[in-house]
Order: sequence, then structure tokens, then C-alpha cells
Amino acid sequence: MHQRQIWIIDFGSQYTQLITRKTRELGHSSEIVTLEQARERWAAGLRPGALVLSGGPASVSEDLEQYHDFFADEKIPVLGICYGMQLMAREFGGKVEKGVLGEYGNTRIHSVPGFSIPGVKGDLSVWMSHFDTVTVVPQGFKRAMESHNKVLAAMVHETRPIMALQFSPEVEHSEGGKEILRYFYEKLAKLEKDWDASEMLKEATELVQKVGQGHVLCAFSGGVDSLVAATLAARVLGDRLHCFFVDNGLLRPQDHGHIQTLKENTNLNITVLDAKEVFYKNLAGLDEPEKKRKTIGVTFIEVFEEQVHAYETDRGINFTHLLQGTLYPDVIESISPHEKGGKSVTIKSHHNVGGLPERMKLKLLEPLRFLFKDEVRRLGEELGLKHEWVHRHPFPGPGIGVRILGEVTPERVLKVQSSDQILFEELHNAHFYEATWQAFTVLLPIKTVGVKGDARAYEEVICVRMVNSSDGMTATWTDAPRDLLSTVSSRICNEVRGVTRVVYDITSKPPGTIEWE
Ligand code: XMP
Repeated sequence: MHQRQIWIIDFGSQYTQLITRKTRELGHSSEIVTLEQARERWAAGLRPGALVLSGGPASVSEDLEQYHDFFADEKIPVLGICYGMQLMAREFGGKVEKGVLGEYGNTRIHSVPGFSIPGVKGDLSVWMSHFDTVTVVPQGFKRAMESHNKVLAAMVHETRPIMALQFSPEVEHSEGGKEILRYFYEKLAKLEKDWDASEMLKEATELVQKVGQGHVLCAFSGGVDSLVAATLAARVLGDRLHCFFVDNGLLRPQDHGHIQTLKENTNLNITVLDAKEVFYKNLAGLDEPEKKRKTIGVTFIEVFEEQVHAYETDRGINFTHLLQGTLYPDVIESISPHEKGGKSVTIKSHHNVGGLPERMKLKLLEPLRFLFKDEVRRLGEELGLKHEWVHRHPFPGPGIGVRILGEVTPERVLKVQSSDQILFEELHNAHFYEATWQAFTVLLPIKTVGVKGDARAYEEVICVRMVNSSDGMTATWTDAPRDLLSTVSSRICNEVRGVTRVVYDITSKPPGTIEWE
């Protein structure tokens, strides 16, 4: 990976990834680093174009670390956000006092006379931290913004490219946030832009070039990440990239259609492996969600190993690498300070098809590992992939298997496939597909009474779920148009055999997860 222009030191804020994304949207390459990593780099003589100190849950009064190294060089621009601002104030001899409320909140602030940022109103509503606050501005700094009750909201250094904010400019509900960040990078730090789709493509391609002459295996789902990863890898590897699409019998009609479209309209070398029978056989009799997930994961691996073996013996092709569409959030999660303390509880065992066993001795090729999802979409379009291909909703590896509550049987799979197809068609008819982040149907393991024609019916229930989200970590249920819900409901009851009732899930995440199992 090339050296990034902006280093964002993560002090544990839930918004650190968002700072990085916004910074990149503004055209500056940026990465998240831990404090230890930043110190190591500093000691090795490396310096960023600008340093950002993130927010965090701690109180600076309990932070015994020294930070002056980061401020020693007068030319290095530094932006402190919330906790980062308080650290900065302390380092420069200001006073920090404990806040009364340990939380964030919408707060109105205004610029003090004599300070303004081009394109930003003098009076703003921002997402402000009410943890510690700076009560005495350190020498060399001037007040730039404050709240109506005079809490310091922003300060800037009089001569150096240093700025600090008591609020989060990166979150959507901070007015003018993006302009404030732009002001720091362009006016104070005087940085040139160095990040766009062609830069992403260049870096990702360089990673693929490291493969040399080997053959690469790709567990191809046709989803956004595997499609973009495979497309860019194929430009370097040609037919040495082998994409295997496993038909596990837990796919929706739209997935079959999509794979066919990709086979016909791209140069990818895609082989469809029909493994329905073995998946159904292994899932028979299982109704516990974790057992189902694990079984589906293990079966994927079995199918892959068999195929890899067949390639070796029948064609003499030995795979050296496994291509995975791993994204930046998966990579940085493993270095976050959140992880240091305790272990996080496993809510679900997310299996990703790429988790092939070590005995296969494949090296990992992860060309998207420095990108966020929205960047992967931009890269996909840069590679010439169609808009609708790179804006598909996420679909979990275990597929319909986790959308049938209870045992998976071919009959029950058909109910979810048919109802999902209706939802998919109606989302497109209503031009609502891209207005929601993910939409699907779930078969509930209960029967309810209804009337069909003149007869009593006693049949199963389909639940429709639609959520808005940016990364799947949190989500809110989608307030879908009433007409859309109404059409979907009546079509499902009329067209899907064995279903008489449709319900809509109005649970956000948390407390619910997006998938039901
Ligand atoms: P949950 O249900 O955990 O889902 O709130 C969050 C997002 O992840 C998707 N999901 C998965 N994706 N393998 C995947 O690749 C999995 O095992 C898996 N389980 C859930 C889910 O569809 C949602 O977008």
C-alpha cells in the first residue's frame, strides 16, 4: 500500500471510519492507524501530510501518554476532533474540564467575530461532544466557534496549521461538516488531492500483479465485492483467474439470472457448480440457526476442495492464491482499540466463502482490502461494470438458508424464492430498489388461519424485511411506500402456494439483527 496522505489516529470513536471515508470523498488518501502504529512510524522518520486525532470515549484526565512528538514539527498539520481536541489543548497548556453529560447531542454553535470558513454559515447545528470540554484556550490558539452558552466548539492556532473541534464534522447531522474538513485539508494544511477512482484502480492492480504466474481461485457470488475484485483481477490474470459460483440451492431467482448475465456479458471465466443436493442432504433435520450456518459453511468448503482437487488431477492446474473481496472495515476492525479490552460476543458466525482451510495452502489475494464499500462501487463503475451490478443489495453467504426459520426443505425454499421474486419485481416497479439498502422475505415457522376463496386456510406466514443502513452494522427499518407494501402483500398471498399472511418487520438493528437467523 502506498503511503497515505492523512493518518487518522483512532482513539476509539465510533465515527473514526466515517472521518476516513469523508476525507477520501474530499479527494485525500487516508488510513486509520493505532496510536502505537503512529508512534512506530514517527520513530522511523515517516510523516503524514496531515494528522487527525479522532474522538474517543475516555477522559483526557485519565490519559497518561505523552503526545508532544506529534506536535514538535511546526509544519505538520493536525486536526483534533473531540477527544483529539482535548488532548491537543492539554499538550499546549490549556485547561480541560470534565463535561456534565457523557454523550453527544445536537448543539447550535456560531463563529466568533473575525473567524469564518468559506461556504459555511456563521450559525450551525452540529453533533457535539458533551464529554470533557476545553475551558481555557492554550496560548497560541484563538477561539473560532462556540455554543450559545459559550462552550468552546472550535479553536485554531494563530500561526500553525492546527485546528481542533469539539464536534464531529464527519457525521451527516453536523451542518457544514464537510466544508469544515475541506477548509482544514485545503486552506490550513494546503494539501493537494491525491485520491480518486483511477488511484484506487492503480493500487488494487498492483496487488494483483504480485501473484506472478500463479492460478487464482475465486469463490464468486456475483455480489458487488466479488464481482469488482474478480473483474480487476481478470484484467491482469486473464484465464488464470477461475471463478467458481456454487449453486447451493439457497439462491433467489435473481441470483441465477445475474450469473447468467455476467457469463454472457463479461470476460470472466465463471464455472457454476451445482451442489444443491449435497447442501439439502447436509441441512436435513437441522433447525438451530448456528448449526445451519456452520453446516452451510462446511459444505461450501467441501464443494470447493473437491473442485480444486479435480482441477489438479484432471487439468494439472495448481492454485496458488485465493481471491477474496475483503474490504477495509474488515481489516481495520482487527486493529481497533475497542478490541483490545474484552472479547466481542459472537452474535452470528458470519461465514464468508473465502474462509477455506489452511491445509489448502492458498495465499490470500485481497485487492479491495484498503477500500470502503462506496469506493468499491466507484471502482466497479471505473472498470466499466453496469450501475445495477454494483448497486445490488447485499445477500448473505448462507443465502435463503437463514431466511427460512426452522428446517430447510426444497418446498420451503420455493416459498422464499417465489415471495422474494415478487418483492424484487415490485421494488423495481415502484423505483424503490435503490431507496432501500436491503430487502428480502423470510418464511416464518408458524401457521395462521385465513380465508382463500370461500374456504378456510391454515397456512404459513411470510415476513417482508427492508432496512436502511450504510454498512450493515446498524440499521433502521425502511418506511416503505404503503402502495408497494400493499401490492407485495396481495401478490404473495395470491401467488405463493401455502402462504396466507404477510407481515412487515419494523425492528431496527439494534436490537434486531438484519437477517432473522
Ligand atoms: P446481520 O443479520 O448480522 O447482517 O445484522 C448484517 C449484514 O450482513 C449480512 N450477512 C452476511 N453476509 N455472510 C455474509 O456474507 C453471512 O454469513 C452473513 N450473515 C448476514 C446481512 O445480509 C446484512 O447485510
